[in-house]
Amino acid sequence: MDIERYRSDTPGCSHRVHLNNAGSGLMPSPVINAITSHIKLESEIGGYEAQDAQSDAIAAAYRSVANLLGTTADNIAFTENATASFVQALSAISFESGDVILTTRNDYASNQIQFLSLQARLGVQVIRAPDQYQGGVDVAALIALIDKHRPRLVCVTHVPTNSGLVQDINAVGNACAAAGIIYLVDACQSIGQLPIRVDDIQCDFLTATARKFLRGPRGSGFLYVSDRMLEQQLAPLFVDMSGASWTGEDSYQIVDTAKRFENWEFAWAQVLGTGAAADYAISVGVDNIRVRVEGLVRQLREGLSSVDKVRVLGNDEELCGIVTVTVDGYDPYAMVSALRAQGINVSAQGREYAVIDYDKKNVVSALRISPNYYNTGSEIDQVVAAIDSVSSVNL
Ligand SMILES: Cc1ncc(COP(=O)(O)O)c(C=O)c1O
Repeated sequence: MDIERYRSDTPGCSHRVHLNNAGSGLMPSPVINAITSHIKLESEIGGYEAQDAQSDAIAAAYRSVANLLGTTADNIAFTENATASFVQALSAISFESGDVILTTRNDYASNQIQFLSLQARLGVQVIRAPDQYQGGVDVAALIALIDKHRPRLVCVTHVPTNSGLVQDINAVGNACAAAGIIYLVDACQSIGQLPIRVDDIQCDFLTATARKFLRGPRGSGFLYVSDRMLEQQLAPLFVDMSGASWTGEDSYQIVDTAKRFENWEFAWAQVLGTGAAADYAISVGVDNIRVRVEGLVRQLREGLSSVDKVRVLGNDEELCGIVTVTVDGYDPYAMVSALRAQGINVSAQGREYAVIDYDKKNVVSALRISPNYYNTGSEIDQVVAAIDSVSSVNL
């Protein structure tokens, strides 16, 4: 991989050691240019006029995201963020009291809250499949729960926000396809760093954001919707006049494509930036990215393991770009500030981000370090040395 080229494409690399890709990645120049040139055009000729003028480029952005996922543009909806994609998908399922949502113990906090909200409002039952001893959902147990409860929905977060765990989404997808159960995958933390082919996963919905490992802009997300869901006429509860047309006083007609999950008003600059980010990731090669990130993470975990006060959380077998640690006696939020003062970006997460996982690991908060392929081995050494030196000063 031509890391030097990717770094010179990335203005942020010359200012920061950016190890917060699970928060948001550094955008490369083609992404920045796609956004800023559209904003400039809007300011010069008007927002709606700029949208019309760029209609080919906007159509191409759908194709770019579709290429990244191995699907077609008609199966892609753009949204504002992964959560917006998730709630649009959830709202399309007509849950009734007693319906079961089957999920895992590592699904994202907002998803868990939304399930609990559905439980409170509609009386659905939320069941979480148990983990295997070594971590990650026990797929055999999850399949047994599918057989027993015939859930209305199975939902799995591919990579949780708070650990390097990679869930076996393909195995779960096989089971859901065989049982004819709707399957929703949250790929927010995996898109851009792990290869994702929706046909392999066999999911019905897949939610993602642009800003993390994919290196797109903030304020942009997308949703994949399978042909099966489209053919079954699933649509969001609050479909708007872009997703449907008002055909008579008491009637409306939803559109045929995944665009029925979109809202009418859109930040098209962000959509163009997201398309450019998908193209960039494809040109780098997501398989290459995965291998590179795995190498950096291995180096990071080894380095951190040798720091006295550091406990590296999780012993995940399949490594990806998120490492969480605790530093004995140090508040991770204070560590974030100390590192940021040295030009190193990392993040911290409290228990409310991952109640079940953090309680199991007996931690109340953790420091999260998340490298992407454009980071270097010497940046990894730098963060390890910085954590070592900050933590060796007695507070
Ligand atoms: C696993 C996971 N899912 C969903 C989300 C929500 O994404 P967004 O902030 O784009 O709504 C996040 C955000 O960090 C996440 O880590």
